[in-house]
Amino acid sequence: MIFKMEVDQEQIESFGVLLKQGAEARIFDSDFVGRRSIVKNRFSKKYRHPALDSKLTLRRLNAEARCMTKARKLGVPTPVLYAIDPLLHTLTLEFVEGKAVKDILLDFGLYGINEELMNELAKQIGVAIGKLHDGGLIHGDLTTSNMIIREGTNQLVLIDFGLSFTSTIPEDKAVDLYVLERALLAMHSSCGNVMDIILAAYRKSSKQWSSTMNKLAQGMNNINSHYSLSHLLGRSREESVKFNDGNQVVERSFDGG
Ligand SMILES: Nc1ncnc2c1ncn2[C@@H]1O[C@H](COP(=O)(O)OP(=O)(O)O)[C@@H](O)[C@H]1O
Ligand SMILES: [Mg+2]
Repeated sequence: MIFKMEVDQEQIESFGVLLKQGAEARIFDSDFVGRRSIVKNRFSKKYRHPALDSKLTLRRLNAEARCMTKARKLGVPTPVLYAIDPLLHTLTLEFVEGKAVKDILLDFGLYGINEELMNELAKQIGVAIGKLHDGGLIHGDLTTSNMIIREGTNQLVLIDFGLSFTSTIPEDKAVDLYVLERALLAMHSSCGNVMDIILAAYRKSSKQWSSTMNKLAQGMNNINSHYSLSHLLGRSREESVKFNDGNQVVERSFDGG
């Protein structure tokens, strides 16, 4: 047992420099055959049965890789997937050099808004989400930390497909947009109408915009979505539920599609 722990520790250190320790994964700044890369290591949940845990972790890891690849095929820039290790539970990705949209918008709050840059960012965000949604992909965690503006090209790159799933129903798409709207209100209130610009671009980019926007306009009260309620409340993302339908919250499993 002690030997096992030592091996695990060694493996972790060999991933590279720890950038972030999250609730579900550790992120390392690493090197993949001479290229700067990100290693995303999903770790076990101590309270779950080891065999079940390994199965669920692996399923999520595969879903993340598949969804990221699908997004690329739909024309949405994502990091390149270099490798997937089902034993160590890691994804190795291209390291995208650039600033997170979060930091750019926070700077607007501090130093004043660059309208031209903000419009350009917001348009790219709306277009990217429209492409994902028309292709039947829900990102699942649309926050400004999960968007990077690539240095040099100023191209928007979407990252973190760890909560993504496939769905064509307007409710799921509406919740995706709603999550982003909440994130913008909470983090970037000084950026004014940035969501309006995003939605305008979304309408132009998505052929199915009207059913989605109708659901978004109805509000989140009577929405049945594949999304987990806990997700929006910022609690554990373990279990999944339907949205509060009347007063009844109905449980549903989350298979990541
Ligand atoms: N491919 C990448 N290139 C550059 N930075 C990345 C990349 N992937 C992740 N990061 C950085 O690591 C952070 C966490 O990664 P993320 O995939 O969002 O995991 P989490 O599920 O913990 O949010 C990101 O917010 C970003 O700062
Ligand atoms: Mg993230």
